[in-house]
Amino acid sequence: MVITAQQEALVVSSWNEMKDDAPTFALKFFLRLFEIIPSAAKRFSFLRDSNLPLEKNPKLKAHAMGVFVMTCEAATQLRKTGKVNVGANTSVQHLASVHFKAGVADVHFEVLKFALLETIKEAVPYMWSEELKEAWSESYDHLVVAIKNEM
Ligand code: HEM
Repeated sequence: MVITAQQEALVVSSWNEMKDDAPTFALKFFLRLFEIIPSAAKRFSFLRDSNLPLEKNPKLKAHAMGVFVMTCEAATQLRKTGKVNVGANTSVQHLASVHFKAGVADVHFEVLKFALLETIKEAVPYMWSEELKEAWSESYDHLVVAIKNEM
């Protein structure tokens, strides 16, 4: 089994704690990525073409939220089917193509994972454990491997 029922429950229960403020948390982990790798922001067409401060850019928030939700949903898909299914409106192949064309590299995915886990730890410190970290890590890793395999 790729993800256990217990791991799925950890991801879903912590998501339920965070969901009301999920867009803020999602933006936070992307801003953390840009602190660590400032050039990563240049990968986004809508950041290159905008004078808005990063934290006020609605498209950045939307992308960040997409990553957060898809990582959470991957836990359930992996537990149920052993595979990642990115949803009806897109495909892994499309995501791979978009990220490949934008020049997104392994290091971006790696640092984003670090930033995601750090943000979750700060968001729900009372739930944080090695098991919770592992559960979110597994979910994120499988989602990213599915995308990277097509890149
Ligand atoms: C676009 C998801 C990680 C950079 C997108 C889109 C989605 C998505 C759904 C929109 C695709 C479309 O246009 O139809 C994800 C997921 C990720 C992830 C699920 C990880 C699990 C990253 C990372 C970067 C990144 C680490 C690093 C900089 C981009 C860029 C675009 C994009 C540059 C194109 C935006 C534009 O210029 O229009 N991503 N993403 N993504 N993503 Fe990600």
